[in-house]
Amino acid sequence: MSTIHVKDEWKARAKLTEDQYQDWYRRSVEDPDGFWGEHGKRLDWIKPYERVKNTSFAPGNIDLRWFEDGTLNVAANCIDRHLETRGDQTAILWEGDDPADSKAITYRQLHEEVSRMANVLKDRGVQKGDRVTIYMPMVPEAAYAMLACARIGAIHSVVFGGFSPDALGGRIEGAQSDVLITSDEGLRGGRKVPLKKNADRACEIAEKAGQTVKTMLVIQRTGGEVAWQDGRDVWWHEAREAVSADCPPAEMQAEDPLFILYTSGSTGKPKGVLHTSGGYLVYASMTHEYVFDYHDGDVYWCTADVGWVTGHSYIVYGPLANGATTLMFEGVPNYPDASRFWQVIDKHKVNIFYTAPTAIRSLMGAGDAMVTKTSRASLKVLGTVGEPINPEVWSWYYRVVGDERSPVVDTWWQTETGGILITPLPGATDLKPGSATRPFFGVQPQLVDNVGTVLDGANDGNLCITDSWPGQMRTVYGDHERFEQTYFSTYPNKYFTGDGARRDADGYWWITGRVDDVINVSGHRMGTAEVESALVSHAKVSEAAVVGYPHDIKGQGIYCYVTLMEGEEPSEALQKELVAHVRNEIGPIASPDKIQFAPGLPKTRSGKIMRRILRKIAEDDFGALGDTSTLADPGVVDDLVEHRQNRK
Ligand code: WTA
Repeated sequence: MSTIHVKDEWKARAKLTEDQYQDWYRRSVEDPDGFWGEHGKRLDWIKPYERVKNTSFAPGNIDLRWFEDGTLNVAANCIDRHLETRGDQTAILWEGDDPADSKAITYRQLHEEVSRMANVLKDRGVQKGDRVTIYMPMVPEAAYAMLACARIGAIHSVVFGGFSPDALGGRIEGAQSDVLITSDEGLRGGRKVPLKKNADRACEIAEKAGQTVKTMLVIQRTGGEVAWQDGRDVWWHEAREAVSADCPPAEMQAEDPLFILYTSGSTGKPKGVLHTSGGYLVYASMTHEYVFDYHDGDVYWCTADVGWVTGHSYIVYGPLANGATTLMFEGVPNYPDASRFWQVIDKHKVNIFYTAPTAIRSLMGAGDAMVTKTSRASLKVLGTVGEPINPEVWSWYYRVVGDERSPVVDTWWQTETGGILITPLPGATDLKPGSATRPFFGVQPQLVDNVGTVLDGANDGNLCITDSWPGQMRTVYGDHERFEQTYFSTYPNKYFTGDGARRDADGYWWITGRVDDVINVSGHRMGTAEVESALVSHAKVSEAAVVGYPHDIKGQGIYCYVTLMEGEEPSEALQKELVAHVRNEIGPIASPDKIQFAPGLPKTRSGKIMRRILRKIAEDDFGALGDTSTLADPGVVDDLVEHRQNRK
């Protein structure tokens, strides 16, 4: 499909024109202090900043500060400042798992709930800088919990409700968090998720590792039976009655931490990505406004989970800072049936809809009729995020879901970037299906080859960003060296994204996917090393190597090569047992799609596993294995090919 030029209707509505994009972009890179100094004023500052950008990518001195002498409160920016003008407007529009279940929370109500929850936390001893872990289903209380932390200056660490007790326990310990906010159970697709039970188990795991959870605040969602530990466990619906509805927002420095969010990398345990207050909120709110061409009164829906960065920046912080009505959906795309998204759009007259390619692919599979039986007349902008979107899927989204009336914004960014970095702007950018198009203001992408040589013009390479933007992560929680090592050591003086990209002759960017050992499964980031360590923690497994392979719905599937301990026999039962084991260790999102028992793995003489070969076999593309002569035992390859589990 060729370029889709901006339509007149889009232009008429858009906040920015193409010329403005060009002007603003030029200024944002030529004069970042002037540009961001001006746009930083979109927030309410308690003490206005004088200094805007103070950042260094220099080796040994990665130091990122924005608006550093200003003070503000993030929750006050997301709530209090809207009370006068839009106290009775819906802030959070909640759509339950059951289509009969929905409710609207106004800014005034949000103010009261957040203040009360903040007071409950304070009563339990939570202070500025303390870490609070949040393990919640998609209910408004998840947003209250985040904002309550922001209100008192505590640092939240939201852990996706689909993670296992082990994963949660590790993150509680990593953040040295002694408060956990959870729910009795979650409800997704008609099924209950035992969150409190998982949380209890996670606390035991954290305890063994030396971190005691002293308070567990429990939100009642289903009313299901739960175990109770007196002294530690507190019901939210009881505690909220006992505290005042007034909680003055704490005055925070722009560079005070706002949250930690654990994310997978190519090595080791997940890293605690740390974001701070001022720059993050400026960037999240500004991108939310311009990338989605958000106008006052629009109903905005991002289908992500608050457990991921997309939920942080584009369900909670960005939209609420802009005084938007943000829709929060508890359920899943195919429950009760594959028409749910489109029905919710009609029910709530959604104007802006933001989802992931994996969801679009699976709904595309359900047939056009599931879409076309709904109206979707309210839609004005469609967005995608999380993984590359194939041009066919993009076109289906544009044509069938959007009836060719709404621009599609393919937004590229990462947990580390805090907000969207490469994206079209509706009504300004001509669209190319499959391309994230052009950088947002202040973002300077660059392509380099494997040794760091800068590649100009139309080219393919590794994607770096050469200067800081306000939403950039500031450090890895508790490990600044790992921060520098992970992102700034491959190519000195540049932030390395871990993604590959192509720039075409028009200067448009096409993200080609990860170039490291991170895979993207249904838009969820997963380190292959994490799955490997889950596998080898099973008593019968001696060695494991995990790679991604192309998967029609998930984007990438998880392919595991497993070598068993002496004396263990491969069997279908053991395959199932290993799948269950990984789900148990990490969570259902890490379920292996394929397990191949391998008598040996292809290794170099120095013992390094040659993943390139494993990837090729997993892709069923073993005709092109390349040079295998450096292998210690070239014979293992024949066996791997013969018993390959993915045959096209
Ligand atoms: C991938 C999600 C292509 C990419 C916001 C990135 C994308 C990783 C896109 C970050 C996109 C995200 N096109 N690839 N529009 N958006 N990615 O941290 O590989 O969960 O590095 O952040 O997702 O995933 P994360």
